Amino acid sequence: MTREKFTFRNLYLASGNAGKLEEFYNFFSDLQLQLKPQPEGFKVNETGKTFLDNARLKATLVANLTGDWALADDSGLSVNALQGAPGVYSARYAKSDSERIKRLIQELKDCDQRQACFTAALCLAAPGSQVLIEVEGQCDGLITKAPRGIGGFGYDPVFEVLGTGLTFAEMSKEQKKKYSHRGKAFSLLLPKIRSLINTC
Ligand code: IMP
Repeated sequence: MTREKFTFRNLYLASGNAGKLEEFYNFFSDLQLQLKPQPEGFKVNETGKTFLDNARLKATLVANLTGDWALADDSGLSVNALQGAPGVYSARYAKSDSERIKRLIQELKDCDQRQACFTAALCLAAPGSQVLIEVEGQCDGLITKAPRGIGGFGYDPVFEVLGTGLTFAEMSKEQKKKYSHRGKAFSLLLPKIRSLINTC
């Protein structure tokens, strides 16, 4: 793939998750990239064993389909008392956000070990299955006994960030950006994307 191909700097976001997409747009607000949605109806079987495997799978597929750069995020919640579950199965833990939260609270009923960790793996890929950048961010926290807060998405109302006393759903967007797994992953990704843009 030649560099000329990238002069337009389209970046396809390989995600259909509205909560993640809103965060992506916020992270990229000061970069000269034309953000584009993934192709309509795009679906992928997330067969990877790790968050990075799945991010790579989604990013390379969308880059190959669109002929342009694609960024994928694979993320999830790993709970110590559940031996790391739901982990890469976080989206498949139940049918909806509220049912996933309900199941998690139920599984940890009577359990005092509430430690958990959110992970976000990001992969930027180019056509020809080229992996350009891969990074991972993590955030440690505790699973609350009941949901708290109205912001964010997914498991946000039951994940209290260690040392803050606040769930992600109780934080402002700026606070979540500062503490979250995705915020940390983006702070590693952005300088790398900037230097990639400057060199091609
Ligand atoms: P996937 O990465 O699209 O497979 O989604 C993983 C699952 O984790 C989905 O159920 C998401 O809603 C959830 N998830 C991912 N990131 C976050 C987050 O920042 N807060 C809350 N839930 C999240």
